[in-house]
Amino acid sequence: MNLVPMADILKKANEEKYAVGGFNINNLEFLQAIIWAAEETNSPLILQTSEGALKYIGMEYVIGMVGAAVKNTTIPVALHLDHGSSFESVMKCIRNGYSSVMIDGSHYPFEENIELTRKVVEAAHAVGVTVEAELGQLGGTEDDLSVAEEDATFTDPDQALEFVERTGVDALAVAIGTAHGVYSGEPKLDFERLKAIKEKIKIPVVLHGASGVPDRDIKKAISLGVNKVNINTEFQQAFNAKIREIFNADPDVYDPRKFCGPGREAIKKEVINKIELLGSKGKA
Ligand code: G3H
Ligand code: ZN
Repeated sequence: MNLVPMADILKKANEEKYAVGGFNINNLEFLQAIIWAAEETNSPLILQTSEGALKYIGMEYVIGMVGAAVKNTTIPVALHLDHGSSFESVMKCIRNGYSSVMIDGSHYPFEENIELTRKVVEAAHAVGVTVEAELGQLGGTEDDLSVAEEDATFTDPDQALEFVERTGVDALAVAIGTAHGVYSGEPKLDFERLKAIKEKIKIPVVLHGASGVPDRDIKKAISLGVNKVNINTEFQQAFNAKIREIFNADPDVYDPRKFCGPGREAIKKEVINKIELLGSKGKA
């Protein structure tokens, strides 16, 4: 497969101070919408699957679909495992051709998170695969990953530095006030904390839970050193809203192409908006 390590994409973004979307795919329509949007805007792209999406689609189908999508593309594309839960899970993705993995040990005590991440970095780097890890814990829900708001913890800048130095990780997901899924109120981002983290660690910083975060906050986060912005929920909402609209107008529609096609167009429009917001347009 014609994939690039995510580290290559993020290195340029870090140097030139923009962010690249870590866009989740959930089915064929999501994949097509996202890759077509990135090609149309000449943007680098990080395609990611959660473990839930991987289970839903199946590894062979993910690899087959992504392989077809990148076969003739001229933009740099990384295939990334989002929120990998174990060493075994990330190794399975690496063996099947993923060019990047996230190991999410954020729910473990600091030392255990370091130990697990270090082990993944050692194995992944040996075969040229990028590793993202997480320190601090986001609230909210994504697939089977659910953290109550009161259990969410912010990333400590000093711990972040120690974590990066001891693990050798390529990119770090931080908890600064965003959450997965749909927000009940407006998210409050701790920009001072983000600034302090980036001053210490220098490597690409990842913002998870970016759906529903106002554009001005996303822009500010990028100006303070975020280089990867993860979005899933907003694309799911765009897809669903369009399909709902079609069924409301004509409840008798039965050909899936008549609602999945427009749903795919709706995602593509949203992806183009996000690419422009993140500043990765024309950076391929
Ligand atoms: O890992 C994926 C993202 O953090 C998804 O966040 O639920 O805000 O789209 P989201
Ligand atoms: Zn996430």
